[in-house]
Amino acid sequence: MKAKIGIINVSDRASKGIYEDIPGKAVVATMNDYLVSEWEPVYAVIPDEEDQIAAKLIEMADEKGCCLIVTTGGTGPALRDVTPEATEAVCQKMMPGFGELMRAESLKYVPTAILSRQTAGIRNQTLIINLPGKPKAIRECLDAVFPAVPYCIDLIEGAFLETNPEVMKVFRPRVK
Ligand code: MTE
Repeated sequence: MKAKIGIINVSDRASKGIYEDIPGKAVVATMNDYLVSEWEPVYAVIPDEEDQIAAKLIEMADEKGCCLIVTTGGTGPALRDVTPEATEAVCQKMMPGFGELMRAESLKYVPTAILSRQTAGIRNQTLIINLPGKPKAIRECLDAVFPAVPYCIDLIEGAFLETNPEVMKVFRPRVK
């Protein structure tokens, strides 16, 4: 069975069609680069509204059965940035290591990395990861945390994700 990966571009402007959905496409391109096992995207572009983000996360996790959901945007300090709040609202467990590593890695590129409140968490059998909205930041952050993502999904009994080790070498302390 194909692994389902949710991709949510959280952006007022992209959801109105003012911006093209470049962040969502950047996530798809990155997953295609990393993964050799079959996967399919479950896609959404929604405004910076906490209840709409939470509802989309729940739908992708509970109804669509995504093993992983990646959000882009809405992690900063601006008044409309609420993606981390929506993520916390739907997760049973937070995974603070993801945000810590992504900020540390992003600091190598921009001093404003500390402005991102990006986090990650587990809702049932779904890992949810927040990324900033900038396409360059998306790749930088995924490159940092993805080595631990397939094993995290193994532990919550989600799909078995296999990568091309020349592009993305993952670490599995115990293989199924
Ligand atoms: N992380 C990386 N790797 N590269 C970046 O350019 N931009 C920062 C930060 N993290 C950035 C980054 C900036 S300027 C902001 S405001 C925050 O992410 C939040 O971005 P968001 O509101 O699009 O989520």
